[in-house]
Amino acid sequence: MSKHYLFANWKMYLDLKESVQLAEDFVKIKYPKDSEVAVFPTALAFEEVVKVLDGKAASGAQNIYWAEKGGYTGEVSAEMYKALGAKYVLIGHAERRHIFHETNSDVRQKIEAVLELGMTPVLCVGETGKERDESQTETVLETQLRAAFMDLSFKKDLDIIIAYEPVWAIGTGKSCEPAEAMRVAKLIKNWTKGLLGREPVVLYGGSVRSNNVKQYVVNDFSGILVGGASAKIDSWRELIEELK
Ligand code: PGA
Repeated sequence: MSKHYLFANWKMYLDLKESVQLAEDFVKIKYPKDSEVAVFPTALAFEEVVKVLDGKAASGAQNIYWAEKGGYTGEVSAEMYKALGAKYVLIGHAERRHIFHETNSDVRQKIEAVLELGMTPVLCVGETGKERDESQTETVLETQLRAAFMDLSFKKDLDIIIAYEPVWAIGTGKSCEPAEAMRVAKLIKNWTKGLLGREPVVLYGGSVRSNNVKQYVVNDFSGILVGGASAKIDSWRELIEELK
């Protein structure tokens, strides 16, 4: 069986104390064999959470800035996260793109910075509800992928993970119909293979809960990126139970 990625994006749901408590509860769970669990806490809680995880789960940044150091008020670099043990970085999450107006070109620079450090980018792509209604899903996703990987040169042994997260499914309780999500995952694999010469690992994200998780950890999906249901121990535990 190939590896399953179970990624928990805690967004800005928890303060330092709550993050540490949740990390303590996370590591007590028995995860299915061959799963790679990673936690994405806030920058504020990052160091303390990594200490609690103590290698039992991996960690990742929710966002980075591509410069190493300098006058960039409010930002944190990939180097700084790496020094604390981060393995992964979420890049181009829908909330970054749509609330903070992050562009495809920002995404491209962030991917490069992360790959240069030998970390694994988790590129998030997805269409809005309006784009889906206007049959723009394929165009939007292909554009996001092309822009993210444009003229990118990197060592071929580095991993790339792509999370398909339809914007309309994030935090809404309306997850994407599994057959449709699978169809899109296949397209993402094909486009990326055309652009980079190999298939990426593809995850699904967007209202993953215990009652639907099983449908997204099969076939063309290698795992899940979970927001809301990962930020409370009961819903996370129930979700993991479904995978056993
Ligand atoms: P959600 O968020 O699980 O709360 O829908 C997913 C994400 O934004 O990564």
